[in-house]
Amino acid sequence: MATAVSMAPSSGTAGGEVVVDRVNKTYGDEYRSKLVVDDCSLVARSGRFTVLVGPSGCGKTTLINLIAGYERPTGGRITLDGAEIVGPDHDRLVVFQEAALFPWMSVLDNVMYGPLVQRKVSRADAKADAMAVLARVGLTEFRDRYPKQLSGGMQRRAELARALINQPRVLLMDEPFRGLDAMTRQLMQEYLLRLFETSAQTIVFVTSEIDEAILLADSLIVMSRSPTSAKAVFAVDLARPRDIGIFKTRRYAELKDEVLTTLYEEAVGAFSNADGVKADMVEAHRMRRTGGRA
Ligand SMILES: Nc1ncnc2c1ncn2[C@@H]1O[C@H](COP(=O)(O)OP(=O)(O)OP(=O)(O)O)[C@@H](O)[C@H]1O
Ligand SMILES: [Mg+2]
Repeated sequence: MATAVSMAPSSGTAGGEVVVDRVNKTYGDEYRSKLVVDDCSLVARSGRFTVLVGPSGCGKTTLINLIAGYERPTGGRITLDGAEIVGPDHDRLVVFQEAALFPWMSVLDNVMYGPLVQRKVSRADAKADAMAVLARVGLTEFRDRYPKQLSGGMQRRAELARALINQPRVLLMDEPFRGLDAMTRQLMQEYLLRLFETSAQTIVFVTSEIDEAILLADSLIVMSRSPTSAKAVFAVDLARPRDIGIFKTRRYAELKDEVLTTLYEEAVGAFSNADGVKADMVEAHRMRRTGGRA
């Protein structure tokens, strides 16, 4: 049954709603501890594209690790479709920035590996499913190549295929396009948009790029500086299907300005504990935006 990748257009029934409810995360022990996530609440809705943006080092990866179940919250709870997340599972898969393909396996074998080791499917079915996802990410012709024979963008697409074949209820993506050159990054964003817009896949995506965040998101959540929490939620009401043409629209410019202002306050706070300096920098930013108007 090669049905693993026949993701029907969004019906909202695929599930995947993630609720982060008043979560705290502390690393260390009682003698030396560090609060990284502080009373954080947010919702990633089923079938929607939720993007988290926040200052460098604020705790974004920690939050992804908590949703993935690699880490447990110190306080609060995280649920997936109402059930508490207590550990890793194939219903939540993470695509990281670092390449995680097995270098000694072909692209096809890399993609088939998950279903095969779970022993849920025959080799023939795993192969059929793998071929279907490889077609979705445009890698059919490259199935017999080894990872090092692929460009950076192709490697990311192979990783995406490797996650998608498991039909996760939620796809967690932690800055998956960081480090790619600008052109490849843009192509990957368009690939991901097409994939999302023709599926019911729930996605939670972390980035530090505002343009990328607005291009992709239905819901854009700005994270505060460390210890992090959800500071503001923006509904990105730009029509789909989207492409980079949105960057020329007025609504995009308005959204970007609102998000930037919120982010800027966080970034300034992260750089300075001196309230006077912080206030001056926020004021300077406000003056630039308003042209000096009160
Ligand atoms: N396993 C750990 N043990 C102790 N501290 C940790 C651990 N993992 C993360 N931290 C700390 O938690 C804070 C947040 O780290 P995290 O990687 O979640 O931030 P981030 O927003 O993803 O950063 P970046 O923008 O660099 O990707 C950092 O101060 C980091 O040192
Ligand atoms: Mg990170």
